Amino acid sequence: MIKFVIVVFTLFCRVAFPVKHSLVFSLTASSGVPDIPEYLGSALVDEVQVGYFDSNIKTAEPKVDWMRKLMKDDPQHLEFYVNKCIESQHFLKATIDSLMKRLNQTEGVHILQQMSGCEWDDETGESRGFHQCGYDGEDFLVLDPQTLTWIASKPEALITKLRWDADKARLHRDKYYYMHVYPVWLKKYVHYARSFVERTDLLSVSLLQKTPSSPVTCHATGFYLNRADLFWRKDGEELHEDVDKGEILPNHDETFQMSVDLNISSITPEDWKKYDCVFQLSGVKDVIITKLDKSVIRTNWGSPSGFPAGAVIGVVVGLLLLLWLCITGLFIWRKKTNGFKPANTSDSADSNSDSSQLPLSGKTGGE
Ligand SMILES: *[C@@H]1O[C@H](CO)[C@@H](O)[C@H](O)[C@H]1NC(C)=O
Ligand SMILES: *[C@@H]1O[C@H](CO)[C@@H](O)[C@H](O)[C@H]1NC(C)=O
Repeated sequence: MIKFVIVVFTLFCRVAFPVKHSLVFSLTASSGVPDIPEYLGSALVDEVQVGYFDSNIKTAEPKVDWMRKLMKDDPQHLEFYVNKCIESQHFLKATIDSLMKRLNQTEGVHILQQMSGCEWDDETGESRGFHQCGYDGEDFLVLDPQTLTWIASKPEALITKLRWDADKARLHRDKYYYMHVYPVWLKKYVHYARSFVERTDLLSVSLLQKTPSSPVTCHATGFYLNRADLFWRKDGEELHEDVDKGEILPNHDETFQMSVDLNISSITPEDWKKYDCVFQLSGVKDVIITKLDKSVIRTNWGSPSGFPAGAVIGVVVGLLLLLWLCITGLFIWRKKTNGFKPANTSDSADSNSDSSQLPLSGKTGGE
């Protein structure tokens, strides 16, 4: 079952390995929530926000370097997003207004969310689309891609379902996007992102230790994708004991960092040379190996340079960013299990896009 949760850490911190990629358009229309735009849209690639739109700024903004580059290389792509966002804003606004009217909700906070997009498995080449809506934190409508009909998750959604089912033009347009357009875009995005990911100009891996008896932290920072692995090895074998692995966290500059601690209390001095720390970006063959060696450990005592403040600042900035996301009420909804609801290889879509948002055509009846 799908539930809405406020995005907390999950957006940024999940560590996953390549194979499955996702393109998700998450749209939120709200009524009665002061201080946040009535309409917010986000595009996420592999769970990282890459684009943003809201009803105050009225334009789509790329949020990461590779997306900025793509938009520059292909200005029509940006224009497409801006238009779709405006359309979907009208559509969702009309929908929430008409829902509130029908449900006698004259006041209070109401939130209509829509998630659509596609998943693509880069090993099997399979892709599938999904499109679902939630209202006030609960599932509302889910598109069944096989029959191209909406499934009402609750009785109140029935009228909306019937209206949306009757709009065949929109359904077919959505389907075209899920099946043909989004998978192509997702592949392109992953390709662009990779060309950034493989940059190593900001990447650094270092060993840190707070006190002579504390664990040795292997810290990697400055990598461009939240998919990486960092682990300790002994004699070339990955260690699972005496290690404490942290999550991947965002830095303030679109790069990420992570660290893994090694408890050295039971390691004899002559065994130190058997240990090393390995950093690997997922999908990239080259690894960075750092040997456990007293001379390369940066410490808090002894050397004046101390524990790098940069790491701490990165974490603080990351937390502030997350807090901001919570405060601004960026919602997303996730299935309890990983991945999105399959809408089978195909299907329809919309999202920032299209379809569902139809609009403008005079028929702003929404719902
Ligand atoms: C809304 O109010 C009208 C009139 O007061 C009533 O007939 C209707 O059943 C109400 N609808 C809901 C969903 O509560
Ligand atoms: C490290 O290992 C020792 C012995 O196994 C244990 O007593 C100690 O609590 C561990 N330290 C940390 C920080 O986990």
